[in-house]
Amino acid sequence: MERPEKSGILVSGWHRMGYTYSDGSYISEMLVKHIKKLHQLVGNVVTDGRLVVFGGGSTQLLNAVVYAFSSNSSLQSPAKVVATAPCYPVYRTQTQLFNSRDNRYEGDTSIWKQNASRVNATFFEFVTSPNNPDGKLTKQILNGSNVKTINDLAYYWPHFTAIPSPVDQDLIIFTISKLTGHAGTRFG
Ligand SMILES: Cc1ncc(COP(=O)(O)O)c(C=O)c1O
Repeated sequence: MERPEKSGILVSGWHRMGYTYSDGSYISEMLVKHIKKLHQLVGNVVTDGRLVVFGGGSTQLLNAVVYAFSSNSSLQSPAKVVATAPCYPVYRTQTQLFNSRDNRYEGDTSIWKQNASRVNATFFEFVTSPNNPDGKLTKQILNGSNVKTINDLAYYWPHFTAIPSPVDQDLIIFTISKLTGHAGTRFG
């Protein structure tokens, strides 16, 4: 890095000394406001009325979503986690690492294209757009009331791709790793 001394940040001693903010929440309203402002400026995602949840990088959030929406009912098969190949390998490695009885990694999405809605299980379809590793803009393949689409838009920024329109989906994950390159800050 050239001239690192020019990029110093001063953090006041009083700043962020408690768990909560002045409104009693655990999440900084000021930060939420600035995140929404940035997205509105760039025009990559609809933010009106959206709830913003922070995580330790998007890696944590990718699995948190799968965990949060997996049913632990014995009447249903474990949820099926799928992604279209070639895909970011962490969808598979993380699902397998946590080895939950409530969800399993089930490989390529296309295998389930014809029959997902008839299967008695929740599907989590990871949609990565632009995709890692091939950079293609992609769309969900599965449809049905038992399908939850997790839109991983880590690279949906103008320095990686054209932004044809703001994305308007229920569940979208972004990360500072790819926006500014601050991967070590672990913020998604
Ligand atoms: C598509 C995609 N999603 C998520 C991540 C992980 O990002 P983070 O650093 O926020 O965990 C990466 C990192 O390479 C990625 O390529």
